[in-house]
Amino acid sequence: MNPLTLDTLPLRTSEDIVQMRRSTRSWMVEHGFSLVDQTKMVTAASELARNAIDYGGGGSARLELLTDQGRVGIRAVIQDHGPGIANLAQAMTDGYTSGQGLGLGLPGSKRLVDDFEIWSEPGQGTRVSIVKWR
Ligand SMILES: Nc1ncnc2c1ncn2[C@@H]1O[C@H](COP(=O)(O)OP(=O)(O)OP(=O)(O)O)[C@@H](O)[C@H]1O
Ligand SMILES: [Mg+2]
Repeated sequence: MNPLTLDTLPLRTSEDIVQMRRSTRSWMVEHGFSLVDQTKMVTAASELARNAIDYGGGGSARLELLTDQGRVGIRAVIQDHGPGIANLAQAMTDGYTSGQGLGLGLPGSKRLVDDFEIWSEPGQGTRVSIVKWR
């Protein structure tokens, strides 16, 4: 399962999110993912990108192609070097927000993908990796 980098994108503005959504969708089309899977992955990645911008002071996204014994997957790694998340369990709870959100971005993203990993260190930043398998 050796990842191949497909794209690396900055996440600073809403326009960057639009660009990331476009790139994710077009790579998924290229690799034969269903429309439903494209939409789930794009939605999850957008939520994480929005968090990186709103709470992490901006960051970046990397899209990767995974292959594992004939299976094909798309991974998005979204990271920032913001304040991090002190209480990850709380942040992953439906309805928890420190701002004006619905508190559904993180837990909702997790439900939309096949694999979800989050690392966060107070003062260091946050990195989230999501994978959709075809
Ligand atoms: N990249 C990040 N850096 C720092 N804190 C974060 C980051 N992402 C999420 N958080 C914290 O986790 C909380 C929950 O995030 P989540 O995306 O689930 O909800 P929200 O952004 O508050 O609302 P919604 O996404 O539903 O609009 C946020 O309110 C914020 O406190
Ligand atoms: Mg959010």
